[in-house]
Amino acid sequence: MTESLKGKTVVLGITGSIAAYKGAEVARRLMDLGADVHATLTRAGAEFITPLTLRTLTGNPVTTDMFADPQEWHVKHVGLAQRAAAVVVAPASANAIAALSLGLAHEFIYAVALATPAPLVVAPAMNDGMYGHRAVQEHLRRLRAGGARIVEPETGRLASGAVGQGRLAATEAITQAVVEVCGERDLSGVKLLVTAGPTREPLDAVRFLSNRSSGRMGYAVAEAAARRGAEVTLVSGPTALPAPPACEVVRVETAEEMRAEVLRRFPECEVLVAAAAVADYAPEERARGKLKKGTGSLRISLRPTPDILAECGKLRKKGQFLVGFAAETEDLLANARKKLAAKNLDMIVANDVSQPGTGFDSERNAGYLLFADARQVELPAMEKATFADHLLDAVVEGRRPRRARRG
Ligand code: CTP
Repeated sequence: MTESLKGKTVVLGITGSIAAYKGAEVARRLMDLGADVHATLTRAGAEFITPLTLRTLTGNPVTTDMFADPQEWHVKHVGLAQRAAAVVVAPASANAIAALSLGLAHEFIYAVALATPAPLVVAPAMNDGMYGHRAVQEHLRRLRAGGARIVEPETGRLASGAVGQGRLAATEAITQAVVEVCGERDLSGVKLLVTAGPTREPLDAVRFLSNRSSGRMGYAVAEAAARRGAEVTLVSGPTALPAPPACEVVRVETAEEMRAEVLRRFPECEVLVAAAAVADYAPEERARGKLKKGTGSLRISLRPTPDILAECGKLRKKGQFLVGFAAETEDLLANARKKLAAKNLDMIVANDVSQPGTGFDSERNAGYLLFADARQVELPAMEKATFADHLLDAVVEGRRPRRARRG
């Protein structure tokens, strides 16, 4: 048996559901995988299964009443939250899902989930009517958007006797999710700077030059990196996207502003992912007010903007890893390779932006990862979130010392 959770602390929360007894099985299996399991019961959970069962199984104290000794509790929940490699709520009742989504902290497990930087795994179990309710689904959506891993309940016979979706997922599916989220924290503590979105170059008080970038690719990279443990700063041009969870977001408008914010942070960063579609030219002059309509044609003179990534490529120090994007409509690989060399990068993502359905302003991306050492990997069309994880896998691999790399 592989001990894939060896040396990892896993906090397991068992909440008020008839499936609470299966939480004991989850604890057992996590221990088989080598985890140090700290089980906790909510008050409702303790109506279904006793702390004694879990204490005997795990060999660790089991917290049920967080007000028994507030001082000890405070130390304990912060300590456990810091040590945890993952926090698992299985089974998660409708009440538990709402508490986790809203950030309530009236039970020990919810307080741990709030205080921890570790990933959260939630395995719902309830009556099918409750599971399908808009409120429950809305809370699950919020949790997912915040980076939690939801292990969907199965369809089958429920405690009520009816058949429907709501039965706690198989123990194996829950523990597999824990193994996966633990393995994904391969960027723990890495300082990662991401640029995203378009820039806007003002022409007058109300008009600007910009491009079709939605910012989705850069935001997906920032979100995935934060989930994998990186300390992420996202320098973003104007987008309609919400801030990704657990990232510092710095909003800018123009290429000049983006340059200033990036250069200020660049010396500290270990990885730079430049996904922004920075305008290459800006109007030479910005009219004070709103330009008036004339009768003839209007000529606008443009000046080049600073190439932020090329500047970082010049300033780079040993140990920094630089990733650029190349948006091309022809000679994709040759042009991308040229940019990789000219900007002194470790890796470049080559995107053919003439292909419909991927790249600029779309949900999906496809392309090639080209490396400074001449390797190249093709990535077929996929969701930008998945694309971001492939990109980060390549970053993790590329930062390893050469002789430790695979292949
Ligand atoms: N980039 C940048 N600053 C600029 C222009 C581009 O930091 N002023 C970065 C982008 O974020 C991207 C990479 O450089 O990671 C390449 O951008 P791209 O627009 O494909 O290339 P350009 O260098 O602008 O060249 P061209 O437009 O001629 O293809």
